Amino acid sequence: MPHFLIQGGGGLPVLNGEIFVGGSKNSALPALASSLLFKEKPKFSNLPDIEDIKRMNELISPVEFGEKMDMEIAKRFRASILPVGLVLARYGAVSFPHPGGCVIGARPIDVFLSGWEAMGAKIKTPAKTEGGNLIYEAEAPEGLKGADYVFKTQSVTGTEGMIMTAVLANGDTVLRNCAMEPEIIYLVDFLNKNGARIAGAGTTTIHIEGRGGKLLTGASPFTAPPDRIEAGTFLILGALAAKELLIKNIFPEEAAALMGVLKEAGANITMEKNSAVVKKTKNIKGVNIKTKEYPGFATDLQAPFAVFATQAMGQSMIHETIFEGRLSYTQDLNLMGANISLMDSHRAMISGPTQLYGRKLESPDLRAGLAFMIAALIAHGESQIGNIYQIDRGHEKIDLRLKNIGANIQRI
Ligand code: EPZ
Repeated sequence: MPHFLIQGGGGLPVLNGEIFVGGSKNSALPALASSLLFKEKPKFSNLPDIEDIKRMNELISPVEFGEKMDMEIAKRFRASILPVGLVLARYGAVSFPHPGGCVIGARPIDVFLSGWEAMGAKIKTPAKTEGGNLIYEAEAPEGLKGADYVFKTQSVTGTEGMIMTAVLANGDTVLRNCAMEPEIIYLVDFLNKNGARIAGAGTTTIHIEGRGGKLLTGASPFTAPPDRIEAGTFLILGALAAKELLIKNIFPEEAAALMGVLKEAGANITMEKNSAVVKKTKNIKGVNIKTKEYPGFATDLQAPFAVFATQAMGQSMIHETIFEGRLSYTQDLNLMGANISLMDSHRAMISGPTQLYGRKLESPDLRAGLAFMIAALIAHGESQIGNIYQIDRGHEKIDLRLKNIGANIQRI
């Protein structure tokens, strides 16, 4: 299996130059899924060339020709839940597996199931088990109807999935306690440009005019915005290991929560309109973070932040409030020399600064995998990172882009 071999810079500012932030996976995925709302597939640009995008294309292409969703593909990634409501609304029935994806917690799908039920779908319970997978079956032979639905918990893909499904419903829908992530606004802007009528994206209450099954015909293309998580990870990398790093294609307002934390720690970052310059500073100090829904501190930046905190003076506390299984990677950082204590499954205390030493690692999920790459780049000695499929799922040609700024990294 391919892996990354990384020679660490031993804490020195060895990186220099420019790095470009790729298109956002989490924005591109719902937009691609929304193809099922259209008569003819819309045009997409700036999509990252990554595994999850390929999987979404493979998943929805047959459906566009009236065929079933492929279970084997659907069970491989979490975002496969996004087109399910659209298949149900278009064809009156759907079967789908419990979606896979990063192992960062239980990752239930109850908000989707209860959302479709609120729109009149019948979901067979209990779900079938086939070859060790849970297979759900839902029906709405008369089509779905608009609903007034309150999410019991704010969910990003839950909000995106329900918005798209409601576009095809008979009658209007009001969604309450919606997630407010920028990816939802990008999706809604795209759909509205193509004839949908959706109001309130970016707030907790969203109104959708149902089109009674009538597909969209617009021709406005979707351009993926920069990946705000990748951008944030590059800010952290620069603050730890760059003489001077120019990060291009970054939206400052989407990096605000992280910027607040990095500034408080004493990082040297200058934000411009669509770019940032970051330099390693000595004597960064420990800070506490609590992950929150947008505009709070993103859970996807929690692992890169932990690597940052290992280099900060004093104590930093991480409180992960979104997922319950997202701190296990800290054990590997400890094996590299970090001093991280888990208080419980949601909280970690990091004492720093500590020198890290290269070692053999397995990428646990895509964002923690990228965090391991940062740890390896600042460590003394050589690291080998395996299971890099997880990293490639979300970050296009990450090794080549890091090489371009002076990282000593090989894909073997
Ligand atoms: C999205 O996942 C992102 N994925 C994740 O990024 C990200 O970590 C997460 O949002 C939080 O920001 C995509 O956009 C494809 P949620 P999502 O539903 O939508 C609970 C990455 O690395 N919940 O907002 O699946 C859930 O357990 C990935 O790019 C339910 O209880 O996350 C969690 O505690 C990893 N029932 C909370 O909601 C449900 O039915 C928020 O999760 C659904 C979710």
